[in-house]
Amino acid sequence: MYKFSNILFLIAFLQLSSCSQKALTDKVNNKDSRVDKLLESMTLNEKIGQMNQYNGFYDATGPAPTGGDAKMKYEHLRNGMVGSVLNVTGADAVRKLQETVVNESRLGIPLIFGLDVIHGHKTLAPIPLAEAASWDLEAIEKASRVAAIEASARGINWTFAPMVDISRDARWGRVMEGAGEDAYLGSKVGAARVKGFQGNNLSDINTIAACAKHFAGYGFAESGKDYNTAEISMTTLYNVVLPPFKACVDAGICTFMNSFNTVNGIPSTADKFLQRDVLKGKWGFEGFIVSDWGSGAEMIEHGVAKDKKDVAIIATNAGSDMDMESYANVNFLQAAVEEGSVPMKYIDDSARRILKVKEDLGLLDDPYKYCNGTREKELLYHPDHRAAVLDIAKKSIVLLKNENNALPISKTQKRLAVIGTLAQDKNSPLGNWRMGSDDDTAVSVLEGLDNMGIEYTYAEGTKLSIGENAFIREMKINETDRSQFDEAIELAKKSEQVLMVLGEYGYQSGEGRSRAKLGLPGLQQELLEAVYEVNPNVVLVLMTGRPLVLNWADENVPAILNTWHLGTESGNAIAEVLVGNYNPSGKLPMCFPRSVGQLPIYYNHLNTGRPGPKDLVFWSHYTDEKNSPLYPFGYGLSYTSFDYKDISVSNTYGTDDNVKVSVTLSNTGKLKGKEVAQLYLRDRVASVSRPVRELKGFKLVELNAGESRVVEFILTKDELGFYNNNGDYVIEKGDFDVYVGGSSNANMRKSFDLK
Ligand code: NOJ
Repeated sequence: MYKFSNILFLIAFLQLSSCSQKALTDKVNNKDSRVDKLLESMTLNEKIGQMNQYNGFYDATGPAPTGGDAKMKYEHLRNGMVGSVLNVTGADAVRKLQETVVNESRLGIPLIFGLDVIHGHKTLAPIPLAEAASWDLEAIEKASRVAAIEASARGINWTFAPMVDISRDARWGRVMEGAGEDAYLGSKVGAARVKGFQGNNLSDINTIAACAKHFAGYGFAESGKDYNTAEISMTTLYNVVLPPFKACVDAGICTFMNSFNTVNGIPSTADKFLQRDVLKGKWGFEGFIVSDWGSGAEMIEHGVAKDKKDVAIIATNAGSDMDMESYANVNFLQAAVEEGSVPMKYIDDSARRILKVKEDLGLLDDPYKYCNGTREKELLYHPDHRAAVLDIAKKSIVLLKNENNALPISKTQKRLAVIGTLAQDKNSPLGNWRMGSDDDTAVSVLEGLDNMGIEYTYAEGTKLSIGENAFIREMKINETDRSQFDEAIELAKKSEQVLMVLGEYGYQSGEGRSRAKLGLPGLQQELLEAVYEVNPNVVLVLMTGRPLVLNWADENVPAILNTWHLGTESGNAIAEVLVGNYNPSGKLPMCFPRSVGQLPIYYNHLNTGRPGPKDLVFWSHYTDEKNSPLYPFGYGLSYTSFDYKDISVSNTYGTDDNVKVSVTLSNTGKLKGKEVAQLYLRDRVASVSRPVRELKGFKLVELNAGESRVVEFILTKDELGFYNNNGDYVIEKGDFDVYVGGSSNANMRKSFDLK
């Protein structure tokens, strides 16, 4: 049997004088008592060790590392001074480290192995922002399930996902990693992803612990600049920022990650209000909180800690349980406890929380259950996984414009041109976060068309970047080389229709990838206009990790299909939509602005005291731009058309606490299609100014051509109230407006009075 029997021996020593291992395991099967017994046997330093997480070192699979950091980390592993390691993947590598800890440390407490499994491990699903555009919670859960199955087969038992940061600013590169601008949709998506990763039983061999991040306010970085300051009002904090995190707690998530930023002057890692009062207090969260990478040590840069000892004290007292790569807990927490700066009860609490997650994962029963290597070959890139990510990739695509039936393209046309370097790219569609995956494994658009048997002629048109594209480096965008323009223009001239595959490279969004300009990067806009001049029959196939400013394309190009970064099956999904095998049904989880100057922009804003339009200038608006976005939240077209009518409200609130809203939805076009019917609510008069409307329900409805169906929504106390500035959830009676339709611009309205 594995060497973690150290733990069992200790417990045996404490509990029983002589019995078989099996009997012992049965005896200690009560989780709390098992973890408590373990805690009793641990020294202060061993408890602090659980609160320390190290980045892996690359030679872990080889002989014991001898130099620098690696040597120190290795010693700490053997001394029981490490509770978790991140970025070690592959069953062999994981097993090597686990064996070191289990066999060589005094208590042999297994490590948890963490990794950013954000939208897949080997087989990649669309980036999370794209997944959210599907509004299909089942498909989203399935995609996270696939990610968990593959990651767990490679030794990983903890993912740093879902990111549930709400963001209203497309300049922020990490919008690609979340579910967009809306707290209601973000909560549903977050909960679905938790279920997908964690399954029904965390100790199953193919489920992994999830981590809600970044707690909190990281998506409110001023000016959309990553890591920047966040200033967030209580109303916004409670009603916009926190609900998706709360939804993850309600879904049973077992870990949280705090964030790099300050919220109202306090770095999140140091924020007692957020971590101890709200998360562990009010919400009763029983799992543990890990810091973000070095976010503890960054308190020194923030100017709230003078050194790493201060960091260990402030972070632990504020409720941060595990220190990712700040080296603060491991080096300074013991002294801090001994001098009385950190109460021992906090150390016990943190260590207990971490050990309980290990217990729940089954690691105390079998430290090697995720790294026995037997599932690796069989599961990675499994056909079922490819099918699941293809399914959600198709569902994530959003049709932004389609005039004169430019789409779907004819399957038999002979003179189709495809232009744009991204059309041939097998790497970019994988997106920014794909730590475990293999480069160049996405199906490109060209391959997708080939697989459909579509004939085309291809021209690259222009390079998007110069030199290496990499996860850790700034990209160099091509701003000067137009040498391939002529070939593309000549091709366009002699073609019937032109597919222009343009947009952002996968590494242009994500962490550290804020942008101040949101047009098509590099020379792509110029190329688009040059091609359009000779052949206006253009379909823009957009690839992007964030909303872009597309005014010119919207005014000129007949069709725009937003395909985000769709993961492994990207090209197949795009081709199926292009030819009409799949009728697009995605809806934007974040609006597309008209100008960067409109940011932050979001549909659920307050009314202000000066809404408009008004004749004179004295209303809340721009003199040089519209207030509205180019494409609103919830917007997306189909190859068919839908009509909403007969809205009715049955208000039985007070009897059964329900308000039922129903509408008749009809497919008025010629094709079968799926609509995301959305319900928005406005609380007209309340003690706090409430948004002009807020999403409070949605339904995916598939209808045959000509078919109609009554769609019903039920509003309960969960939808009818809001958080006041004390953080109390209140339902204030009075007048409400309800809107139902196919986007946040829905204008079919009915009012009711909540008595
Ligand atoms: C920093 C990122 O902010 C966080 O999201 C990620 O999980 C950690 N690095 C670990 O890679």
